Amino acid sequence: MAAAESGSKSLFSLDSYHVSEELGFILPDPLEELPAFYQPWLDIALRVPELVQSHKLRYLINKMPMLGSQFLQKHKELRLAHLALSMMTMGYVWQEGENNTVEMLPKNLAVPYWEVSQRLGLPPILTHADAALANWRKKDPEGPFDMENLELLVSLPGGDSVRGFFMVTLLVELAAVPALRNIPTVINGVRCGDTEAVARALEGISQSIQDMTDTFKLMHVYVEPPVFYGIMRIYLSGWKDNPCMPKGLVYEGVSTEPMEYSGGSAAQSSLLHCFDELLGVKHEDKSGAFLTRMRNYMPSAHKQLIQDISLQPSLKSFVQQQDSEQLNQAFQRCVTNLLAFRSYHINVVSRFITVPAARAQQLRKKSQDSGGDMVSRAPMALEERGTGGSGIMTFLKTVRDQTKDAFLSETSKGVTYNS
Ligand code: HEM
Repeated sequence: MAAAESGSKSLFSLDSYHVSEELGFILPDPLEELPAFYQPWLDIALRVPELVQSHKLRYLINKMPMLGSQFLQKHKELRLAHLALSMMTMGYVWQEGENNTVEMLPKNLAVPYWEVSQRLGLPPILTHADAALANWRKKDPEGPFDMENLELLVSLPGGDSVRGFFMVTLLVELAAVPALRNIPTVINGVRCGDTEAVARALEGISQSIQDMTDTFKLMHVYVEPPVFYGIMRIYLSGWKDNPCMPKGLVYEGVSTEPMEYSGGSAAQSSLLHCFDELLGVKHEDKSGAFLTRMRNYMPSAHKQLIQDISLQPSLKSFVQQQDSEQLNQAFQRCVTNLLAFRSYHINVVSRFITVPAARAQQLRKKSQDSGGDMVSRAPMALEERGTGGSGIMTFLKTVRDQTKDAFLSETSKGVTYNS
């Protein structure tokens, strides 16, 4: 990626990173059909919620024909195949809840899933790139890109909340597009010392991050916390650091050794990774290691973009060297808004995970007959963990606090934030 090399004379641009001008990291117009040869996959994938409910999914997947991936050629075909095979895999593993998982994924699913994953550079598990970025269609193709006009291609158990969860996440990605578009302007402006251009681009980025937070608020409108916690969450869970599947999962026909992969999470969204690298937010220790690992769950071109942003001359040093109040303020606003996004995210996680988890524990302690309560039926092993397998709140607060270190020192002195 010569265009992105540090010190290169050519301008930094997003062209070579599979970033769409209108949609950013979102896959533009995902396919809805695969070549007819793969119909047996879609026949099952499109019915995952219903087949899990009737306990027939594993049975049908076991009987599925073995289909090689050789007739999948285009990137979008591979993305739809990965999405379909991922949804089937999550349903297969978690069909019976946390107590009756499987140790092996059958070869008629595992082998093509592995091949498709290798070709895309994605892991063989459901990722943010599948469930959010490549899992949408407009009901009215000419209509707007909004909640009313969007629907999922493939779903999981949890009804309307599943649609709400992935579609709101998609709209957060959309809200970030102006920020992404401004990144090359910042980088090129730093390279050629254009203080004005950098300040204006940073203003665009800070506004866009604020729009992400505002869009995030829709989560409360479209997703019910008990459904998220009690039904959906297990289907996003992985087989790494997960006590329900301590050995991981054997992909039959691929390897006899079990493999471990983290579950789907927007920690795999490339957005905040890009902003962190641009603004010089450093995540060290355990939380940094987790976030770095999440980059292996992104499309390879997006991972490359994050890497290339990290290799650019330091924006923060540039801001410190210029004597520009406008530039200082624009930079500080970016950090402030990034911090606010992370604080808001912590509130959401509290509402969707911590509160229902406390309620589930309480119900169990009282040993009430809580059979009808979906919260108390939620997987116990996930109580304090994110689907990516992290100890949630400590991790999220550490990451949020590390964001504060990016402030320019003078103005950060008087600023305090709630934890
Ligand atoms: C109901 C909605 C959500 C819940 C319950 C939730 C939950 C979590 C959890 C538990 C983690 C910890 C890591 C893991 O386990 O994978 C996490 C990390 C993360 N999530 Fe979310 N999340 C939600 C929505 C979103 C959305 C819409 C975004 C933005 C696109 C987002 C962005 C992130 C990021 C960037 C991280 C990594 C930590 C950071 O960089 O601050 N999340 N999320």
